[in-house]
Amino acid sequence: MEKNKVTIIDIQKMKSEGKKIAALTAYDYPFAKLIDEAGIDIILVGDSLGMTVLGYENTLPVTLEDIIYHTKAVKRGVKSALLVADMPFMSYQVSIDDALKNAGRLIKEGGAEAVKLEGGIAMQEIVNAIAEVGIPVMGHIGLTPQSIHKFGGYKVQGRKSIQARDIIEDAKALEDAGAFSIVLEGIPLELAKEITQKVKIPTIGIGAGQFCDGQVMVIHDIIGLSGEFKPKFVKRYVEGGEIIKNAVKEYIKDVADGNFPTDDHSYFMEERHLRPVQKGTKT
Ligand code: KIV
Repeated sequence: MEKNKVTIIDIQKMKSEGKKIAALTAYDYPFAKLIDEAGIDIILVGDSLGMTVLGYENTLPVTLEDIIYHTKAVKRGVKSALLVADMPFMSYQVSIDDALKNAGRLIKEGGAEAVKLEGGIAMQEIVNAIAEVGIPVMGHIGLTPQSIHKFGGYKVQGRKSIQARDIIEDAKALEDAGAFSIVLEGIPLELAKEITQKVKIPTIGIGAGQFCDGQVMVIHDIIGLSGEFKPKFVKRYVEGGEIIKNAVKEYIKDVADGNFPTDDHSYFMEERHLRPVQKGTKT
């Protein structure tokens, strides 16, 4: 049975009904279609595409044009999931005007139904301005990858209570600003639990433990397409990279050995007597 279209109202209702929200990233049409058909609630075109599909070291080089291009492709594969597009580094931090214009492009050109941006109190006005024009905003706090240089790398945030208090304030600021949900990334599970209890909007965790209202993962991480990258918070459901590599090796061998293509993969002339080879024969 086909799942109904998921809206931000459904996502918020899931929190009040105690139903967990499942979110995944997607960056292209085939993955979006598969993930959507599997019944995911939210698809995020994350700026993680910088690493997963563009081969950058981090998310910082990703442009608004990159996100729009990939969101368009994902949109074509999505029927029911809520489609959220990430606002890349420096597409919303400079001014409210910039943030509004760029969030608008993700909706208008990309076809997203909501945008995500990183930051708490510092982004409160910007989140509020975007939400006020009717664009749903997903907040993102904790280990925010666009601030890796400030953090000195990908380090769990909020382990000390003074830092934890700031992250709680960030969450409240986002709720007050009108965000419809918040991603909590790379924080201790106790802190994520406290935030989840303190705010009415859903929290969606990544490396934030089991007490969040939902979880988001990078699709490449859970299906084994991120190579050696296997952080503690990721559960790998399949070694997709190995499966693909083995299939490619078999293909190379088949071509080298003359076992592909066979007649089964070939077209024939209409006049049977003109056929150059018999089925199954190698030339
Ligand atoms: O860019 C991304 O994929 C993200 C999620 C992992 C939350 O921000």
